[in-house]
Amino acid sequence: MSILTHRDGPILRIEIHRPDKKNALTQQMYADIAAAMSAAEADHAVRVMLIHGSPEAFTAGNDLQDFLSRPPRNEDSGVMRFLRTVSGATKPLVAAVSGPAVGIGTTMLLHCDLVYAAEDAKLSLPFVNLGLCPEAASSYLLPLVAGYQRAAELLLLGEPFSADKAREIGIVTAVVPAAKLMDCAMTAARKLAERPPAALRITKQLMKRVMRAEIQEALAEEFDHFSARLESPEAKEAMTAFFEKRRPDFSRFG
Ligand code: COA
Repeated sequence: MSILTHRDGPILRIEIHRPDKKNALTQQMYADIAAAMSAAEADHAVRVMLIHGSPEAFTAGNDLQDFLSRPPRNEDSGVMRFLRTVSGATKPLVAAVSGPAVGIGTTMLLHCDLVYAAEDAKLSLPFVNLGLCPEAASSYLLPLVAGYQRAAELLLLGEPFSADKAREIGIVTAVVPAAKLMDCAMTAARKLAERPPAALRITKQLMKRVMRAEIQEALAEEFDHFSARLESPEAKEAMTAFFEKRRPDFSRFG
C-alpha cells in the first residue's frame, strides 16, 4: 500500500508512502486518497484531515511512467476523483510538506486550509517544462492567490522555489524547522478538531463561495488541455528525457 491512513482520535492522517519513487503518485494512489477522504467526510467522528509525505519527500508529483503508459482519459480517472474530493472537501484539510512537492504536490496545497512547510521543502510547477499545462484549477487559483506576475513566473518558467517564497506568495501558512513539521501540523489539526464542526464547515464554505464555480470550470477546461498535451510530442520528449536522464530537446517543435 502506498497510501497509509492513520486515525489519531478525530484526526485522519493520510500518508503518501512510496519511498523508492519519492512518493510519485499513480492513478491508484489518487483513487486511494480520494476514497480515504470521502470516507472521512462521511464519518462524524473525523473532524480534520491531514495529508503528508515523509521527511524526504512530500511527493514527486504524478508518476511520469503512469502518464506515459496509463494517461488519465476521463472524469472517472483516479486523479480527477482526487481533485473533485480535495476541491470539494467540507472538513478542514491540513497539509505538512517537506522535501520536493512537485506538480500536483504543490497545486493540491491551493485546496488545503492550513499548509505547514519544512524549511527544506522545495515546491515546483514544472508543467510547461514537461510539455503539459496547469491542473488542479491552479491556472485560476495561483494568479488569484499570488498575483498574475508571480503565478506566471512559477508556471511559465517552472523552476523550483523555496518554502519561504511559497509563504510570501500565500501558498503556505507557515514555514517551520523540518524536525518540528509534524508536531506543528498535528497541533493545528488538534485545535481545529476542538472547534465547533458546523461553524468550521460553514466558515470554510463561505470563504470558498465565490470561487466554487470557477474552480470546477477551471478543473474541466484544464483537464481537456492536459489530456491532449499528454499525447503531444512535446510531453513525450520531456518524459522520455527524464527517464533517460538527459535534457529534453524541444528545438524541433514549432
Ligand atoms: N514519476 C516516476 N518516477 C519518479 C518520479 C515521478 N514523478 N519522480 C521520481 N521518480 C523516481 C526516479 O525515476 C528514481 O527512480 P529510480 O531509482 O528507479 O531511477 C527515483 O524516483 C528517485 O528519484 P531521483 O530523481 O533519483 O531523486 P532526486 O532526489 O534526485 O530528485 C525529484 C527528486 C522529485 C526532484 C526528481 O525525481 C524529479 O524531478 N522527479 C520528476 C518530477 C516530475 O516531473 N513530476 C511530474 C509533475 S507533473
